[in-house]
Formats: sequence, C-alpha cells, structure tokens
Amino acid sequence: MQPLVLGIETSCDETAVGIVHGRKLLANVISSSVDLHARFGGVVPEIASRAHLEAIQQVIAQALKEANVRLSDIDALAVTAGPGLIGALLVGVSSASGLALGLNKPLYGVNHLSAHIAVDALDNDEKIQPSIALLVSGGHTSILQVNNLASDVVVKGATIDDAAGEAFDKIARIMGLGFPGGPVIDQAAKSGNQDAINFPRGLTHANDLVTHQYDFSFSGLKTAVSRYLQQTPNYKKADVAASFQEAVVDVLLQKSIAACKESGIENLVIAGGVAANSRLRELAQERCTKTKIRLRIPPALLCTDNGAMVAALGSLAISEAVAPSKTGISADSAAQITQLIW
Ligand code: KG4
Ligand code: ZN
Repeated sequence: MQPLVLGIETSCDETAVGIVHGRKLLANVISSSVDLHARFGGVVPEIASRAHLEAIQQVIAQALKEANVRLSDIDALAVTAGPGLIGALLVGVSSASGLALGLNKPLYGVNHLSAHIAVDALDNDEKIQPSIALLVSGGHTSILQVNNLASDVVVKGATIDDAAGEAFDKIARIMGLGFPGGPVIDQAAKSGNQDAINFPRGLTHANDLVTHQYDFSFSGLKTAVSRYLQQTPNYKKADVAASFQEAVVDVLLQKSIAACKESGIENLVIAGGVAANSRLRELAQERCTKTKIRLRIPPALLCTDNGAMVAALGSLAISEAVAPSKTGISADSAAQITQLIW
C-alpha cells in the first residue's frame, strides 16, 4: 500500500502544502509572500512568519481539495524542520505537529535541502539512487553523493562564500532588476550574448582544484560584475545578465560532471530554486548528452520551494522504513544537509 502523505513547507517566504500518494503527485499549493518583501530587496523574517500563520490553514484546505482527499485519509505528515528562518519554520512544524497529534498519524520532520532532491522521485519510475546531486538554492550550493536520500548523503563540496541563488539575487539588485534575481536575470539574458563578457569562473584553476575540487566561490564573480558595471557606463543589461549567468552555470556544470565521472555514478540530479534556470537546464542537457550522463531536473515549478518536495521526502522515508520523528520536535534554522530526518 502506498502512503498518502501531506507535506508542509514554511522555511522561507512560501507557505506551501503538497500531497503525494507514494511517488505520485496529487496536489501542490503555494502561497507566496514575495510581494510583501520585494520593496525591502530580500525576505524579512518577521513578515514571512506572519504571512505563514495567515495562509497555512487555507493552503492546507486547498491542497486537500486539489488532491480530492479528506484530512482523515492522510496516512502521514511531513514538514520542513530546517534549515530556514526560525520563526517561519516554527509555523510549519507547529501546524504539522498539531495535525499529527489530532489525527494520530506519524510525523516526519525533514531537511529542506534533501527535500529539494526528493521531489525528483515524483511521477518518476526510474531508480533515483545512487546519484550525484547538484543542489543550488538561495542559501545553499553543494555537490552531494546521494546513496540514500533518507539515510546516507555525503557532501563532496559546497560554496565557500555566496550561494548560486544569492549571486543571482545580488547581481540583480546591483543592476536594479528587482527581487528575486534569478527569474529576472534568466529573462533578461534571453536577449543577450553570453560570450560578450568573459567573467571569472571561481575555483576552477588547477591549483584551486587541489584543495577545492568540488567547492564553489561566487564572490569574485560578483566583484567582477560590479566593477564592469562601474567601468562601462553604457553597458548592455542583457549582455551582462547573459555573461554573468553563463559564468555561474558553466562552473556549476563543470564540477557536477567531474563528480559523476570521478565517482562512476552516471546519474546527475539538479535541484533547488536555481535549477529552474533555463540556461542551466539547457546547458546541462547538452553536456550530459555529450558525456553520457543521465540527467534529471524536476519541472521548474517543483525546483523552487514547494510542499510536494517535503511530502516526497516523507514518502521516501516511509518506503525506506525510517522511524517517524518524536512528538514535540522543534525546528533547526541551521540544520546541516546530512541531518535528513528528525
Ligand atoms: O530553493 P529556493 O526556492 O529557496 C531556497 O531554498 O533558497 O531558491 C530560491 C533561489 C533564489 O535565489 C532565486 O533567485 C533562485 O532560486 N531562482 C533562480 C531562478 N528561479 C529562482 N535562479 C536562476 N534562474 C531562475 N530561473
Ligand atoms: Zn529551497
């Protein structure tokens, strides 16, 4: 019997609920407070927490309606327990704990980062493990070896400064393109020339590779773009966006493909908000076809934060016979990727 799992995500500015039946996606409802934060140029934690509290009940009701199931049909609850904004996380954890107690069903506190990868299992009959995962979000950028998403993930490398999504957000802010930066740069880059400016690829020189083979650095790129903008009064926005995006995407893929080759794992999954980037998706496909690596990237709507990914990881934990979380779990804003289930 496949479990019916309801997943709740409130780690940042999306109040999101997903419902899955085994690996089948039944509902994915997202209420975003992004418009409330836009004028501040970033997510304001206190505003995000309040918005979650206001939205959560309606989002749960809407997801049940979309999935055409009743709350009493749910077999298990899953919730993002970290990492993320503490006040925001606590809204989700409290709601899910209340539901689990009221329904007398198991609760799985799950890691937001591994949930980004778990969403790849939905509506996918293929074997998803082991794989190399490139996890690229607003707060995290890492290359992982995923032996088992519910119990065994090894970090091969990570950013030593900014996350990839953060780099998009910062460059968009400097260029006055708005927030969040990823989608606007992606859009602006479509009419630009990616070879117009040769921006640096961090930690790719032979001597960097000795100590930072699978690590990333985007702060030098950010400085190079800022300097270019200052020194070039009549710069073309589209060219800067395309060239910056190319520098990020190129280095992400160089290292991910090298990790696949070195480990002999020919499965690459790209996950997290930046995996919605159209150039990353296109170039990944091109390079993986050339190197005979099997590539998986979830649909763009499932790459940015959502509840379906949380339900997917809960469902995976059940299928791997992982014990549910204890009653009274809290949230951990700084949880490490290796803490998969609470
Ligand atoms: O995974 P996510 O939704 O939230 C976090 O867990 O951080 O990722 C959000 C990040 C933001 O930095 C946003 O600018 C970036 O993902 N992003 C994109 C695109 N869509 C969202 N970056 C590049 N291209 C996109 N199309
Ligand atoms: Zn995320």
